[in-house]
Amino acid sequence: MKKIRKAVFPVAGLGTRFLPATKASPKEMLTVVDKPLIQYAVEEAVAAGITEMVFVTGRSKRAIEDHFDKAYELESELAQKNKQALLDIVQNILPKHVNCIYIRQSEPLGLGHAVLCAKPVIGDEPFAVLLADDLLDGTTPVMKQMVDCYDYYRCSVLGVQDVPRADTKSYGIVDARTVSDRLEQVNAIVEKPDPASAPSTLAVVGRYILSGRIFHHLENVQPGAGGEIQLTDGIASLLSEEQVLAYRYDGVRYDCGSKLGYLKATVALGQRHHEVGAEFTQYLASIK
Ligand code: G1P
Repeated sequence: MKKIRKAVFPVAGLGTRFLPATKASPKEMLTVVDKPLIQYAVEEAVAAGITEMVFVTGRSKRAIEDHFDKAYELESELAQKNKQALLDIVQNILPKHVNCIYIRQSEPLGLGHAVLCAKPVIGDEPFAVLLADDLLDGTTPVMKQMVDCYDYYRCSVLGVQDVPRADTKSYGIVDARTVSDRLEQVNAIVEKPDPASAPSTLAVVGRYILSGRIFHHLENVQPGAGGEIQLTDGIASLLSEEQVLAYRYDGVRYDCGSKLGYLKATVALGQRHHEVGAEFTQYLASIK
């Protein structure tokens, strides 16, 4: 039985919705309170037992590699000044047993293409995909919930949530049959349908567990919505030979690819922050 050991983080996207903030720095490095979005996603993968982090990166994204690497100057400076607590934070961004692998996606050909770029390091085993601009906040980390689901059913699992019908054009939307409380059997999936023609309002968020067979399908799909190789189209094709489940995760999603979602995440996580949470909550109450 194959375990989920590897996660793919497609991080080559431009982040135009956050310009000018993302002109020279990656959108995945936008900070919610004191951690960049990519670190939340990596921590979620670590909590799910994943040890190999595969970043599909691009030009002007070097800050991500630096973030997960050793920072000699900073560390020696903090050590000299006896700032042990900060040194611990900087040195323990990743547990020691976790490895980072970086692959460059040299052309922006779509999310499906980005995932396909990871094929040489994934091989044919099942793996996770996490889109860092979806920040998922669950008491049990959402990828852990999905890995548990995978461990039981042994097939691809998509993280899904209901969205307003007007928003279907921003998501992959599934046509599915209810299996249980949180689980649906996917019959079909379509990328960014118009509200009028959307098969449902059940939307895929940025969490996937995919069978290694997805690569075969991604190699053969034609450019779809927006002229890009869509992961959704690869999954639609995978459905012709394998079962795919949609899992309604337990948690809150913040769409940190949008300004409003990002602000909501900052407020929610800020209120719970160990250092500033209590004072920030008081402050929010005082300005109501
Ligand atoms: C991507 C996927 C889409 C999915 C969404 C989740 O779209 O193509 O199927 O529903 O992520 O956030 P994007 O947000 O990159 O346009």
